[in-house]
Amino acid sequence: MTHHKVCVTGASGFLASWLIKRLLLSGYHVVGTVRDPANEAKLAHLWNLEGAKERLHLVKAELTEEGSFNDAIMGCEGVFHTASPVLGHITNPREEILKPAVDGTLNVLRSCKKNPSLRRVVFTSSSSTVRVKDKFDPEKPVDESSWSSVEICEKYQIWYVLSKTMAEKAAWEFCNENGINLVTLLPSFLVGPRETERFKWHGRMGYVHIDDVALCHILVYEHEKAQGRYLCSSTVIDNDELVSILSSRYPTLPIPKRFEQHDRPYYEFNTTKITSLGFKFKSIQEMFDDCITSLVAQGHLSIP
Ligand SMILES: NC(=O)c1ccc[n+]([C@@H]2O[C@H](COP(=O)([O-])OP(=O)(O)OC[C@H]3O[C@@H](n4cnc5c(N)ncnc54)[C@H](OP(=O)(O)O)[C@@H]3O)[C@@H](O)[C@H]2O)c1
Ligand SMILES: *[C@@H]1O[C@H](CO)[C@@H](O)[C@H](O)[C@H]1NC(C)=O
Repeated sequence: MTHHKVCVTGASGFLASWLIKRLLLSGYHVVGTVRDPANEAKLAHLWNLEGAKERLHLVKAELTEEGSFNDAIMGCEGVFHTASPVLGHITNPREEILKPAVDGTLNVLRSCKKNPSLRRVVFTSSSSTVRVKDKFDPEKPVDESSWSSVEICEKYQIWYVLSKTMAEKAAWEFCNENGINLVTLLPSFLVGPRETERFKWHGRMGYVHIDDVALCHILVYEHEKAQGRYLCSSTVIDNDELVSILSSRYPTLPIPKRFEQHDRPYYEFNTTKITSLGFKFKSIQEMFDDCITSLVAQGHLSIP
């Protein structure tokens, strides 16, 4: 395959930075969109990537500005749409989360539609879009045929999940109507080296190595037969179980022993769809080893 030009939205983000690292290593030319190209401190890690000086271009684009992505996307054969509001302090969730996620995705897709070079769009969704539901059959692992309930998300004000579910649904509708080749990737919780400690304990959760998520984006982009949605998750595990793995590996780290009891149903993910494309996920052990090593290296954590 010849290595052409692709666009990555939200280039400065955790996931997008790893994706760009992998794309550059594979020889792609990458146009990354950022909200603030003048913020050198926030972009320095991208310029330090191998191949960045030769094959990375950063341009300004904002999800809530109509047409903002036109220039970045024009001439690209692939678009990886990762930009989306990820939890922070919010006062107005409809304006600050739902609107940029859903309308912003349609804004990006309208720019894709104008681009005659476009081959495929990969949309970064989330495994949370399949698992927020009333009923689980404990015998049947959750797969890509499942969708989270918009009603439940609205009722309990689970804004992030609602935003990802509505944005992915809107993307499918727009791409089906406009003949755009779309594939979506649904990562679980991303773990790996990062600049700051953002880890939170969440009850039973799926986890995946950040590098695997980057590689899976490229796999579903390149694979001729890739179609539809792809769950991207290594292991689903309870807090208690994760704690016992971590505390035996890192006995001197202050790992909590007790948690708020979440009334979350038991579930597993069925990731046969992506593993049958030939992908093999890194283990929980590898994810946390890489995460903890980097936190120590950057002075955010010390192992007594
Ligand atoms: N972290 C996870 O565990 C996880 C799991 C599954 C899926 N995902 C998905 O992965 C994607 C990236 O998440 P992440 O964890 O890498 O979070 P992140 O580091 O916060 O990255 C989010 C990116 O979106 C950009 N963005 C947000 N609002 C925007 C707007 N209005 N206009 C333009 N850009 C905007 C941010 O730009 P700024 O840098 O300018 O703020 C940032 O680059 C998201 O779609 C998220 O839903 C994440
Ligand atoms: C997982 O999904 C595959 C199809 O992708 C199916 O053949 C298999 O039976 C499923 N596994 C379980 C345990 O349900």
